[in-house]
Amino acid sequence: MSATWLPSLITADPEAGFDLAIKLSRVAVKKTQPDDETRARLRAGYAEDFDALISISHVVATNFQTVAAANDYWRT
Ligand code: HEM
Repeated sequence: MSATWLPSLITADPEAGFDLAIKLSRVAVKKTQPDDETRARLRAGYAEDFDALISISHVVATNFQTVAAANDYWRT
């Protein structure tokens, strides 16, 4: 992973901010489980597990709060 994978928390609009929140969440998973094959094997399981999907939504929502605050909620 490049040292510049997160150059800024500033995004053009809320939608791009939400995409960044997803990216932050996915990078956390990648850093905690760096093995590509292991993640690929586990993917099918969580994709059909509604509790896992709700948990994922929660993680993304938490990261979105951070990104939104960093962007002053895109008010300006
Ligand atoms: C695919 C998000 C956790 C493994 C995806 C995709 C998204 C996503 C949006 C679809 C990508 C696309 O089709 O363009 C997340 C988020 C997570 C999470 C937000 C946690 C908060 C995990 C975990 C694993 C995993 C725990 C396995 C340990 C994968 C794999 C794919 C995938 C292998 C398919 C290949 C890829 O598109 O990179 N994930 N995921 N993810 N996820 Fe996750």
